[in-house]
Amino acid sequence: MEEKKIMMAEILRQELLAKGVMKLVLCAPEAARAARAGQFVNVYTEDSALLLPRPISICDAEGDRLTLVYGIVGRGTQWFSKRCAGEHLRISTPLGNGYDLSDIKPGDSALLFGGGIGVPPMVKLAKTLTAMGVSVRAAAGFRDESFLLEELSAAGAQTLCATDSGREGYRGTALSAAEDVGWSGDHWFACGPKPMLAAVAKAALACGKDAQVSMEERMGCGYGACVGCTVDVKPQDAMQPVRKKVCKDGPVFLGSEVFFDER
Ligand code: FES
Repeated sequence: MEEKKIMMAEILRQELLAKGVMKLVLCAPEAARAARAGQFVNVYTEDSALLLPRPISICDAEGDRLTLVYGIVGRGTQWFSKRCAGEHLRISTPLGNGYDLSDIKPGDSALLFGGGIGVPPMVKLAKTLTAMGVSVRAAAGFRDESFLLEELSAAGAQTLCATDSGREGYRGTALSAAEDVGWSGDHWFACGPKPMLAAVAKAALACGKDAQVSMEERMGCGYGACVGCTVDVKPQDAMQPVRKKVCKDGPVFLGSEVFFDER
């Protein structure tokens, strides 16, 4: 089972980024130091009716500060959204595998796709890749209202925005916007809804690349102790599909391994 530690983190700031999307900045030195792009933390409520933690992906980590961006989608996240600066939250150490950057070299190029609440992890990823000397392009897709575009640019990414409604940026998906402007890259990364991950994985394979995609499954414990988040994947060296836990073995998988159709 994955090593995890629970710790108290002080809320430094919490603000509304877009409708139903909150940015939470925590003082959490140990978690911030350990955080890698693509990992998440479990955040616990103090409401006894809500026992399970909520997994929230890491948007940024710098110095003692950990930045989390989450959508208000239920009672747990609603509870978080009411917490104010100076209050404390129980969080875990960073969990999950994160994006694998081991074969990336300075001078390489990377193409990042974020969809909705899958955009936040791209900020930490863009920052990390830029610091490695990689040229980064990030396509961010939203239904109607964008967020974190400035943060992506500040992280060194050439950024474009797409919205389903056409209210901001390109009308359509992040992938179609990137294709329209002829973007490509040596390394492809994505986080967002499954149809977007499927489309990015397919487009990457057509270019001879294997995208790293971060899966958003419903989670229970969030650290490998239950089976609340299993998916079938087919690693390249396996004959048969194998069950993997998104929280522990993922959330990042190779696009070629994932069955995107319902099984
Ligand atoms: Fe419990 Fe993944 S959420 S094993």
